[in-house]
Amino acid sequence: MARILITSGPTRQYLDPVRYLTNASSGRMGAALAAAALARHHDVIIVSGPVAVEYPAAARVVDVDTTDDMLRAAAAEFPRCDGLIGAAAPCDYRPRKVSEQKIAKSGQPLLLELVETDDIVATIAKHKTANQWVVGFALETEDQRFRAIVKMQRKCCDMMVSNNVSAINSLSNDVEILAADGTTIARATGDKQLVADAILAAIDQRLIAGGRNVGFHNQ
Ligand code: C5P
Repeated sequence: MARILITSGPTRQYLDPVRYLTNASSGRMGAALAAAALARHHDVIIVSGPVAVEYPAAARVVDVDTTDDMLRAAAAEFPRCDGLIGAAAPCDYRPRKVSEQKIAKSGQPLLLELVETDDIVATIAKHKTANQWVVGFALETEDQRFRAIVKMQRKCCDMMVSNNVSAINSLSNDVEILAADGTTIARATGDKQLVADAILAAIDQRLIAGGRNVGFHNQ
């Protein structure tokens, strides 16, 4: 049995007290991964952005809003976990300035200056111990496998799930599960629960049962 941390859903980055940037992530993949992990008798902690989806009752859910909140919550939980599955779609940009008051319309174009937020998976994977593992997701519209492998290396992940843009806000997914050496462990297409079961089977077999971490490390 392992303790598995899952990041799930979108995050929000506010421009002012009422407006925010976000994306269409539903949290369904995170919920399906949680159910698959619980069915395999693992403990599950989910750090989730705002979603309508219901997570399995047996999972502990930590609700967050922004990418910074998600990173703080995930980093606080990770030392007590065996691994992280980064299924969230955190907002990659935040406005450089957040207005304290609602921005009034002026009849003129509004220019926003956006700066990058921290990458949660990469930040956590940088500090993982030899016994901990990190699984990331890569959503690409071209050169899917190559870009997923580059991303796995850059983010120090031990396994990468490469999916395509049809996965967003959808009931199904079509993925290729890649090992740290770039080889394909499995492909899975269909309902997100079926895809999540295939991902957990790969994690159990390669990262938990083996009891060793063969992925990328920072140094
Ligand atoms: O670089 P890209 O956003 O495509 O990478 C996707 C992977 O990185 C997913 O596992 C996602 O959860 C994670 N990610 C993250 N923090 C971000 C952006 C992406 O953990 N700020």
